[in-house]
Amino acid sequence: MLELSHIFYSYKDFLALEDITFKFPAKSLTAIVGPNGAGKSTLLKAIAGLITPYKGKLKWKNEIKLAYLPQYSLLDRSFPLTVFDVVAMGLWQKIGIFGGLSHKGADEIHEALESVGLKGFEKRGLSELSGGQFQRLLFARMIVQDADFLLLDEPFAAVDEATTRDLLKLIQEWHCQGKSIMAVIHNLNLVRKYFPQTLLLAKKVVAFGETKAVLTTESLTETSLMGL
Ligand SMILES: Nc1ncnc2c1ncn2[C@@H]1O[C@H](COP(=O)(O)OP(=O)(O)O)[C@@H](O)[C@H]1O
Ligand SMILES: [Mg+2]
Repeated sequence: MLELSHIFYSYKDFLALEDITFKFPAKSLTAIVGPNGAGKSTLLKAIAGLITPYKGKLKWKNEIKLAYLPQYSLLDRSFPLTVFDVVAMGLWQKIGIFGGLSHKGADEIHEALESVGLKGFEKRGLSELSGGQFQRLLFARMIVQDADFLLLDEPFAAVDEATTRDLLKLIQEWHCQGKSIMAVIHNLNLVRKYFPQTLLLAKKVVAFGETKAVLTTESLTETSLMGL
């Protein structure tokens, strides 16, 4: 589905990604694991097309619809938007900004909010949401976006356990529907339990493949992740 060959990226003089080569199969559910500063966020940005590697190639097999959830949401939460508005933003790609919202669109938004446990929150302002509720909201927006490929950067970093569990369930449903998902995850127990594939990154690709084979003592020692 996606092939990266010999990708290099640097911020001014600082090399953040070095010779990244791997093939990402369609319909896969992959965790990206690595220490702080390993280049995980940089890699997702490069795949999302937000930054351009100075060397190497990124090749998509087919045209696909991509959704990208940044590490810390860039959305200013003091901005006067309602929960409903934010999910509606996920439909813009389909209807265009001036397209107007159909009944069907509004139904989709309500359904998405219900499936992330935010039914009844439609009119709430963003500043009235907890961290976990805000992350649920961003997942609701991704439901209506209906992308084929989802890039999630530390989706569980600032959320409570119940939210993590619910959102993991959604990720699994997306995987069953045939979507491809790449998520940066810190908690290795979650990775072992829910992610069939893992990419272990430390500027370079340390290992990539079946999670059990990737998260070995040796590979973790190599990236000094032991004990995490
Ligand atoms: N905008 C930037 N300017 C300069 N250096 C950056 C920038 N963003 C990230 N870096 C550096 O690049 C390296 C990789 O960053 P990042 O991809 O965010 O790592 P990770 O997500 O794995 O923690 C880090 O050393 C970080 O300090
Ligand atoms: Mg990061």
